[in-house]
Amino acid sequence: MAVETTKKPMTGDEMIALSKRHTLFEWSAQSKVDPIPVARAKGIYFWTPEGKRFIDFNSQLMCVNIGHGDPRVVRAIQEQAAVLAYANPFMATEPRARLSAKLADIAPGDIDVFFFTNGGSEANENAIKLARLATGRHKILARYRSYHGATAGSIALTGDPRRWSAEPGAPGVVHVLDPYHGIARGWDTAAESLAMIEEVIQLEGPHTIAAFILESVSGTNGVLVPPDGYMQGVREICTRHGILMICDEVMAGFGRTGEWFAINHWQVVPDILTMAKGLTSAYVPLGAVGMRRAIADQFKDKVFYGGLTYNSHPLACAAALATIQVYEDDQLIENARRMGALMKDLLEDLARRHPSVGAARSIGLFGLVELVRDREKRTPLAPFNGTSDEMAALGKFFRQEGLYTFVRWNTFFTNPPLCIGEAELREAFAIIDRGLEITDRAVA
Ligand SMILES: Cc1ncc(COP(=O)(O)O)c(C=O)c1O
Repeated sequence: MAVETTKKPMTGDEMIALSKRHTLFEWSAQSKVDPIPVARAKGIYFWTPEGKRFIDFNSQLMCVNIGHGDPRVVRAIQEQAAVLAYANPFMATEPRARLSAKLADIAPGDIDVFFFTNGGSEANENAIKLARLATGRHKILARYRSYHGATAGSIALTGDPRRWSAEPGAPGVVHVLDPYHGIARGWDTAAESLAMIEEVIQLEGPHTIAAFILESVSGTNGVLVPPDGYMQGVREICTRHGILMICDEVMAGFGRTGEWFAINHWQVVPDILTMAKGLTSAYVPLGAVGMRRAIADQFKDKVFYGGLTYNSHPLACAAALATIQVYEDDQLIENARRMGALMKDLLEDLARRHPSVGAARSIGLFGLVELVRDREKRTPLAPFNGTSDEMAALGKFFRQEGLYTFVRWNTFFTNPPLCIGEAELREAFAIIDRGLEITDRAVA
């Protein structure tokens, strides 16, 4: 296709045509993708080149936690780029030094050593590398209703159907069931789920297992908030067997649940904690693996076999520092708690009034609605790993009304930026309220 070389801004159609022609879109058959062209964004909103406004009710990919276009972060990136855009990972830089010390302040317990990556997949990749080197064991436990990333190791950890096409994958990963079994079967108690984990560990051989990786609150697999006692129980089992507990906080971290890290809700300190997304609010790519002092100490004499050209990238570290300052200055974690309480009420109100709402869950500003076509039998409105006409119609309605969020299987998400205010939250829920009239019509 001929490309205009002048700087005339592109129309939305031009952006779509060239992007579809010359790029691959993620997790999709390319003929099915229907991207929204995005020209600019501010706060909780983004706009197409033609000026259509969307409420970003998913913080893009559950990552723009502080909201779009914050001038304080933009300035920090500009200033760092002007002074030192890059230094290789064998150097020490001021942003690297300051960010690691800051993270040591806010991370749970004695997690105070960090290895920086480009994103969440690489953070998990390096977390399992660390766990294997530190324990001398090979196997990793992970859960089925999970996503840990798309690189070779992380996709092997991933429990959801995104793993299937990558199989046979990296060996040594054993998946266990979650306490949640889908809308029709519901939840196990913490004790039941822990007994299942203990049984799998016995069957696999505790001395062969390096780590158990789990999302503190599972994200794309359903905003699954574990029952009280579950995380404490996992901690106890891991400690008893010398298995390292790795919490994946790539999506749940940085205020999303109303705490710096979701695991804080249960006052548990994992051995390793991975993060990305909200760390820079996605202004620049950055991930990190945090580890307890005792694990880091193992690498005083032993070599840590891991590296990345962009490890501890100064620009990304400077962006993260500025982002963390925004969380603090604007009290965004407190706001996530306050607005999270309102969001819980709004979700409960939807569940009361709409027969197609089978379940609505949230913690802080991390929320999800599960839709059903039969409230008694709790039949999901779309099958596991599938869609339905009704779910597609709901997605279309949200888009038409200027509400952007993830519609996946029989669920949709409510994950706004943490800077959202009451009026904006109510505005978004008013659109959802009208959209659910579509799905209510499918209820028997
Ligand atoms: C819980 C979790 N872990 C890991 C990842 C992978 O992160 P990235 O896409 O930055 O590699 C994601 C991405 O959505 C995630 O939600």
